[in-house]
Amino acid sequence: MIPDAEKLFSASTEWKSIRVNTLKIGRDELLERLSEKFEVREMPWYENGFFIKGDITKSLEYYLGYYHVQEAGSMLPPLVMLPDKNDCIIDICAAPGSKTTQMAMMMENEGIIFANDVNSKRLRALAHNIQKCGVVNCIILNHDGRFLWKKGIKGDKILLDAPCTASGKIIKNKNMTWSYGRVIRMSKLQKRLIESASKCLIDGGTLVYSTCSLEPEENEEVIDYAIKNLNMEVEKIELVGIKTRRGIKRWGDKEYEGAEKAIRIWPQDNLTEGFFICKLRKY
Ligand SMILES: C[S@@+](CC[C@H](N)C(=O)[O-])C[C@H]1O[C@@H](n2cnc3c(N)ncnc32)[C@H](O)[C@@H]1O
Repeated sequence: MIPDAEKLFSASTEWKSIRVNTLKIGRDELLERLSEKFEVREMPWYENGFFIKGDITKSLEYYLGYYHVQEAGSMLPPLVMLPDKNDCIIDICAAPGSKTTQMAMMMENEGIIFANDVNSKRLRALAHNIQKCGVVNCIILNHDGRFLWKKGIKGDKILLDAPCTASGKIIKNKNMTWSYGRVIRMSKLQKRLIESASKCLIDGGTLVYSTCSLEPEENEEVIDYAIKNLNMEVEKIELVGIKTRRGIKRWGDKEYEGAEKAIRIWPQDNLTEGFFICKLRKY
């Protein structure tokens, strides 16, 4: 399944990534300040993303919330969604808030984001990040996403950055444990979450589904489920400056619909962890 598998396991991990918080500082000003302290590289696919060598949590700018430490691949789902100032967005699995704060920044603190997570301890980290980044367009919710639709809220756009086995992080955590049973349990949970997400979405609204897992059962299979059961169709994703590959169409004896429009970001292709992203529209 893995293209250039040898390259994957020797993918570079020495660069860390940060996102400028334009709610507090201009991109060029931060670049100038950080360049005095660290080795900095600009991210080819996102003007507000930088790669940095060094201890990025030891700087005044970090404590002031001028930037947020965020994995480079994790910046992509909001870029696929393109949140707008007028949107009502539901971020169903939001903690610790990297993408919530990025979306708030893209909305220039206007519109509204419902940031939900089932885990109250992780929500504390989200509340901290929201405060530190100066985000004010956000309402925090603490519900099980599988039943969020029962609350009656509806979003124009929904981010489902689903809980997953996180096998895409294997390049940074080579000791991670893996079991097929866990993949299957996650896949079942993800299908329940995407079903709830579809019910929280207005007709014609956009749902971005993402994971940092490499497993087809957690990615293409969930999309296939949404297409066949939830009145959802897949849309093409346009990203510039990053190497993406198509989703996996066949896996064992299964064939997945929608895979050709979903994207996989492999760690050997860019300076990111592994990521899967799909953009769906409800009809
Ligand atoms: C991949 S993390 C989200 C990362 C977050 N979107 C960010 O960018 O910082 C997945 C999250 O899903 C949450 N989660 C797990 N099961 C859930 C459920 N049933 N309902 C809502 N959230 C859930 C976990 O607590 C975890 O915070």
